[in-house]
Amino acid sequence: MNVIKEKLHIGSSKAADAPPAEPSAETLDSLKSKYAEAGQDHVFSFWDTLSSAQKGELFEQLSRFNPAHINDITTRALNPPKTDDTPDTLEPLPESATASILDSKQEDIDAWYASGLDAIAANKVAVVLMAGGQGTRLGSSAPKGCYDIGLPSHKSLFQIQAERIRKVQELAAKRAGGDKAVVPWYVMTSGPTRGPTEDFFAENNYFGLEKSNVVIFEQGVLPCISNEGKIILESKGKVAVAPDGNGGIYQALIVSGVIDDMRKRGIEHIHAYCVDNCLVKVADPVFIGFSASLDVDIATKVVRKRNATESVGLILSKNGKPDVVEYSEIDKETAEAKDPKQPDVLKFRAANIVNHYYSFRFLESIPEWAHKLPHHVARKKIPFADLSSGETVKPEKPNGIKLEQFVFDVFPMLSLDKFACFEVRREDEFSPLKNAPNTGEDDPQTSKRDIMTQGQRWAQETGAIVVADGGIEVSPLISYGGEGLEKLKGTTITAPAVLERE
Ligand code: UD1
Repeated sequence: MNVIKEKLHIGSSKAADAPPAEPSAETLDSLKSKYAEAGQDHVFSFWDTLSSAQKGELFEQLSRFNPAHINDITTRALNPPKTDDTPDTLEPLPESATASILDSKQEDIDAWYASGLDAIAANKVAVVLMAGGQGTRLGSSAPKGCYDIGLPSHKSLFQIQAERIRKVQELAAKRAGGDKAVVPWYVMTSGPTRGPTEDFFAENNYFGLEKSNVVIFEQGVLPCISNEGKIILESKGKVAVAPDGNGGIYQALIVSGVIDDMRKRGIEHIHAYCVDNCLVKVADPVFIGFSASLDVDIATKVVRKRNATESVGLILSKNGKPDVVEYSEIDKETAEAKDPKQPDVLKFRAANIVNHYYSFRFLESIPEWAHKLPHHVARKKIPFADLSSGETVKPEKPNGIKLEQFVFDVFPMLSLDKFACFEVRREDEFSPLKNAPNTGEDDPQTSKRDIMTQGQRWAQETGAIVVADGGIEVSPLISYGGEGLEKLKGTTITAPAVLERE
């Protein structure tokens, strides 16, 4: 593990549960000189004023970072290396790397579904959830997964996702004629979300999943950096840190032992997704079967982009490699370009919904490439300790940057034949919770609406008569994707309604 940590540029850290002790003069000097060489020794400005416990904690925090590496990634993030002056060539992905559920033959979809369920029944499929974000736009301090979007059942996002896992396990076991299939759920949290997430899962008895099959792990953090390139002290004895972005998943999968756990369980296929999508088809058998049949290393689901300004990344080919251009980084001309063959449609419309398939074989190679992923810059207002008084100041305007890796930055490392893009229906699979209540877009109300509308559609498709408005919430324990609702045929349901398993 130490060799791997070195490759990933992670410093040493204390034993998990020992309180950090004040360092000896010698070890302190050695760390100080590392920070001095990197021009970052201001972090020791208040050392002599700290208590012994505070010294232990600051020393431990600083030991986790390699300051020269922090300087290096900051410089690269602020001045991304450009190999030459030719502009990037952006094109939609070639047809050879894409498929769509909208125009696939039913027999293909059925075959993918069947082989995906077989893989689940053979305990070869795992799920990784990215839930380390802080949900600033939503305006809630609890982890997003705990959020109640106002369904009649008041289920949280975590519960909805857990119940889909339970259901897909049942469907797989039934198909295989066995009594049990296990889809382990690896939940990535961050410093701010770990404790509350663990408590929420425990209080809710793991939503009926076996505790041993739910693994909560933590992504890394990086120091926040001032506009002058200096590591920011948040208080006299603490560095300001922030989660290292959802691209931190790769390093965290290795360092936290998730990959080892997957290997022991014999996992071959992984579905990774974001916590904020209430319609996510967790461990979707169709997607697993589709990706496994192509033997790709990564596949990604997309929906059609709503309009040129929607806050979604675009999956495309950049200089001949699969890539994503993020909404915060796209220029207006590219966002608004029209498809020459269909002038009413955007040229770049494959919206990234952060729903990925990975082969286990590919994730095993993380130590070979994770350190090459770039960092992106997010300019933020970061509370800082005034270096003369030591008082913490809350700035009025952005005074520094957070460094973040993006989960999709690994795509360009693949050739197009090891990558696939799968278009799905937005109304079936994507309704993210991003914004504060009643914003009108991607908020709790639209999340609820999209679940209720989907349930109503399923009921009507099986022949139920729905009267009044408000839709139907169908428990994932009854139906994973609209199947198994035959009993509703000919019945009348008054909306809004909730169908729960007895
Ligand atoms: C993300 C995508 C964007 C996509 C959109 C769809 C990235 C970088 N961008 O944007 O291309 O179109 O979702 O909804 O992926 N997270 C962590 N740790 C972190 C930061 C985030 O686990 O340090 C998780 C969040 O908990 C969330 C997910 O990553 O589940 C997405 O984060 P968020 O900041 O909401 O992404 P967007 O900016 O909406």
